[in-house]
Amino acid sequence: MLRRVNFYSICIAFGLSVLLILAGSRYTDNTSYRPSPESRRNIRNFLKVEDGEDTVVQPIPTNTYDGSPNIEKILEKTRSKIKFDLLNYNFSYSGVHQLEDLLLESDGKPLRSLIISTWRSGTTFLGEVLNAMPGNFYHYEPLLKYEIIQIRGPPHADEALSIMKKMMKCKYDGMEDYFEYGKGHLHQFSHNTRLWDHCKYKKELCFDAEFTAKFCKLFPFQSMKVVRVRLRLIQEILQDKELNVKVVLLIRDPRGVMQSRQHRIFCQPAPDCWKPELLCADMISDYVAAGRLLEEYPNRLMVLRYEELALNPNVTTHKLLKFLGLSVTPSIDEFLHSHTNVEVAGVSSTFRISRDVPFRWKNVLSFNFVEEIQMTCKEAMNLWGYRMAHNASHMTSKEFYPLEQYSLTQ
Ligand SMILES: *[C@@H]1O[C@H](CO)[C@@H](O)[C@H](O)[C@H]1NC(C)=O
Ligand SMILES: *[C@@H]1O[C@H](CO)[C@@H](O)[C@H](O)[C@H]1NC(C)=O
Ligand SMILES: *[C@@H]1O[C@H](CO)[C@@H](O)[C@H](O)[C@H]1NC(C)=O
Ligand SMILES: *[C@@H]1O[C@H](CO)[C@@H](O)[C@H](O)[C@H]1NC(C)=O
Repeated sequence: MLRRVNFYSICIAFGLSVLLILAGSRYTDNTSYRPSPESRRNIRNFLKVEDGEDTVVQPIPTNTYDGSPNIEKILEKTRSKIKFDLLNYNFSYSGVHQLEDLLLESDGKPLRSLIISTWRSGTTFLGEVLNAMPGNFYHYEPLLKYEIIQIRGPPHADEALSIMKKMMKCKYDGMEDYFEYGKGHLHQFSHNTRLWDHCKYKKELCFDAEFTAKFCKLFPFQSMKVVRVRLRLIQEILQDKELNVKVVLLIRDPRGVMQSRQHRIFCQPAPDCWKPELLCADMISDYVAAGRLLEEYPNRLMVLRYEELALNPNVTTHKLLKFLGLSVTPSIDEFLHSHTNVEVAGVSSTFRISRDVPFRWKNVLSFNFVEEIQMTCKEAMNLWGYRMAHNASHMTSKEFYPLEQYSLTQ
């Protein structure tokens, strides 16, 4: 008996020392062993996700032989999730019989929407509303790589339009620049929440053209937002019968835009961003283009003023979804409820929208600056229905309501 106990303790002691030696060599011999910043970030993301109230941590499925992501399994999981999320969706509202009719991977045609605007005009909010739709794939700012410029024609227009069209068709071949830029600017992908759900665990997936193309083709609804291309050029996209895209032009009072841009460091060195004369010349150009395109494509372009959206988010969003052929889902109502009633702190913390946001500039900007904008933007403001403030006290008074009616057909 005693001998047997001894035998076991010797075995255990031997086993332990082998383990200690192995562990020791791992951590002491190889002095360069440290968690990389990458893995530390992953741990943080992991914790953050776990902290969320109702998010369940679902690391992506991987191949057992090398731990690489199992693409087929990810696609299959996503396919089922989309089907499940749209179980109660009435597809006749979107002009088809069933989900498959809207899927590129089953030779269907997705419902596509394109938001055209400029910086600080409420596109973040609008983009998030549309992305609250189950089964939506959000092509967030495909033209980020051009940095802070407006594209009005050559030299960038052809390439920019081609990128937009390719992405809306889920074609990602030859898009090395897009993926390369994204490597240093992950927000290019993270706004596309359904893609990010997977590639946040394995960033390489975000940069993988083949995976992105396959993944994109699973989604019945496809939205895109662009703040760097003027509406005039969008004619080429409206002409594309295969795309059959619906376009939303979002316009905002130049005084509100300039006030909001003051908080953005990216704006200052870029004339297209901080010169009111360029902003307002674009507004005139957009006005002319909108009138012409509405005549040619009456059911494919909708024009919205940011202020109307902010003052009346529910009614305006319902109108917009109807135009896009989307039925209002509980998730949309939930989004509107949580993002139009709840205070979120901090200037960069997105898309809270409320009745005081659109006219905040009245109490924040100096009248001198407002007068300067008004002089430069007289025509643009007149066309889009924005009233002038006459003097400093008029500007801040309750009687001064900056909005009036406007018409796109004259
Ligand atoms: C030591 O660790 C580094 C980084 O983890 C690794 O690249 C290297 O191959 C290791 N060297 C040995 C001898 O294990
Ligand atoms: C779906 O919507 C159409 C009208 O858009 C309606 O006629 C039809 O009854 C609805 N189907 C269901 C199952 O609710
Ligand atoms: C939002 O607007 C829609 C359509 O105008 C209306 O049916 C609905 O009751 C509104 N919801 C709320 C919470 O006001
Ligand atoms: C400011 O403008 C308002 C409205 O035009 C006008 O009634 C008022 O007299 C002006 N005040 C001053 C100090 O000029």
